[in-house]
Amino acid sequence: MNQEFTLQYNIVSAESELHAADQQLVSAAKAARSRAYAPYSRFQVGAALRLENGQIIEGNNQENIAYPSGLCAERVALFYAGANHPNVAIETICIVVQGDLIAPENAVSPCGSCRQVMLESEARQSRPIRVLLVQNDARIFILNACKDLLPFGFMK
Ligand code: THU
Repeated sequence: MNQEFTLQYNIVSAESELHAADQQLVSAAKAARSRAYAPYSRFQVGAALRLENGQIIEGNNQENIAYPSGLCAERVALFYAGANHPNVAIETICIVVQGDLIAPENAVSPCGSCRQVMLESEARQSRPIRVLLVQNDARIFILNACKDLLPFGFMK
């Protein structure tokens, strides 16, 4: 029997097409990106979370000379939220990147480890987390839930 996963997402052609709160979130992710510590990869990533109370949490990638000791922007932001606002739901996460690590034909999208953490951040709250992925050509992919990014995710 064949089974199929489908991924539904929206694309807007520019930031200006987002509603004001999402535009503010993109700006926050860009500000976070500008503070990334990425001297080894020279690939800067910013992540911004909007909590259900409207608060915005920012994170960026933090690298280390012992490469695996570094951490991605998404997890910096999600773990900060988990550490400091464990009972406040995350409404939306926005991710922006800068650098030429990703080939132009490939989408900007979180790594597998971040997807795993996004999945559990979502599972521990009562609502899905929207995902805004700002592409290098300025389009923005909008997903309805983190779980859409990780079919057959490892979860309890
Ligand atoms: N990086 C992120 O911050 N998020 C991702 O989803 C993928 C990769 C960071 C890790 C490292 O500092 C740099 O980008 C290059 O991989």
